[in-house]
Amino acid sequence: MKYNFDEIVNRRGTYSIKWDGGQILKNMGFTERYDEDTIPLFTADMDLPVPQPLIEALHKTVDHRIFGYSVFPDEYFEAVQHWFKKRHNWEFQKEEIVYSPGTVHALNVAVRALTQPEDGVIIQRPVYPPFTSSINANGRTLLNNALIADEEGYYSIDFEDFEAKAKDEKTKMFILCNPHNPTGRVFNEDELRKMAAICVENNVLIIADEIHGDIIRRDQTFTPIAKVVPEHKDHIITFTAINKTFNLAGLHCTNVIITNPELRKTYFGVMGMHLPSPFTVSALLSVYHDGEDWLEQLKEYIDGTMEWAVGYLAERMPKVKVRIPEGTYIMWMDFSAYGISPDEVHDRIYNKANVLLEDGKMFGEEGLHHQRICIPSPRPMIKEAFERIAREFEDLK
Ligand SMILES: Cc1ncc(COP(=O)(O)O)c(C=O)c1O
Repeated sequence: MKYNFDEIVNRRGTYSIKWDGGQILKNMGFTERYDEDTIPLFTADMDLPVPQPLIEALHKTVDHRIFGYSVFPDEYFEAVQHWFKKRHNWEFQKEEIVYSPGTVHALNVAVRALTQPEDGVIIQRPVYPPFTSSINANGRTLLNNALIADEEGYYSIDFEDFEAKAKDEKTKMFILCNPHNPTGRVFNEDELRKMAAICVENNVLIIADEIHGDIIRRDQTFTPIAKVVPEHKDHIITFTAINKTFNLAGLHCTNVIITNPELRKTYFGVMGMHLPSPFTVSALLSVYHDGEDWLEQLKEYIDGTMEWAVGYLAERMPKVKVRIPEGTYIMWMDFSAYGISPDEVHDRIYNKANVLLEDGKMFGEEGLHHQRICIPSPRPMIKEAFERIAREFEDLK
């Protein structure tokens, strides 16, 4: 079936954080302005309808009329295995799959279960903010191996600094984000191999958040780190999810791959038991069996929106430094060339244009002059958002 991603579906009144979360977002300091005219593009959540077979699968679950405690059937684990074998040529055993009601939940469990208070944990900022809070809120020591941007805004790893941080004997964990949110880097096999070798040599456990791995540009390849270095798979814990790929964040379904039985036991001990919702099970079975056709169309649509946005910015806001990311549906825009303060950039976008993005400073001080925009929304909506923003910067051209 051919999907029409240009269709605007009204999400107000559906408990959506994007479209109904004004008060919370104001309280959290995301924005001062939020009203019925706001275009919210701040979070990694799509405004696009999900695959048709998924709608039918969920209808079937609703029609049953009873929503009690549920279990994972064998087919659930087989579907996860099938997806990663087929899409990423990566294999693991059924018993290595651990369900988690969300990736941030899994991240906090991993930090608590597998490190001790004050242990060092490496992250690569600018990065998804809950990486920072999972370390700080659990009393661990944050070690920032900041990514380095070149003139074109292409980020790479400072390996010298990474190795120095890994060598410290208090360092016990590295949380990798690949594809990387917000820079959009998809780390290549050489980079992954090098990071893995340094971690293994220094006994630093790798937590790989790969939940954006299904959404990469057409000319890119994403390889799970545990597939790149199978000899070190006991040293790696990987987060996978249906939430980014199929826009199912509200169903809370993350699958953590833990090969090492000792680590799995420790992780389980801290996590405790979590039974699934029947909606989660039917959703996963549906998308991992019948979602590929939709995903391919979605990727094409996102690629097209990215190309449009980069072209538009080059013409209307050439001072914004931005590139098409290798992966994710996120764009990371550098406003420093305007020579105005981050607060003024914020004011022009959030208050005047009434477009709600995410201030780069939330991803670490490296992002002070950046704004993050998530673009998996109908293109007419994205176009209007960019047009509104461009109008507010016209005087600085
Ligand atoms: C890298 C990364 N990890 C985790 C999450 C959140 O995942 P979940 O909703 O499963 O907690 C996000 C959401 O944007 C993300 O970008």
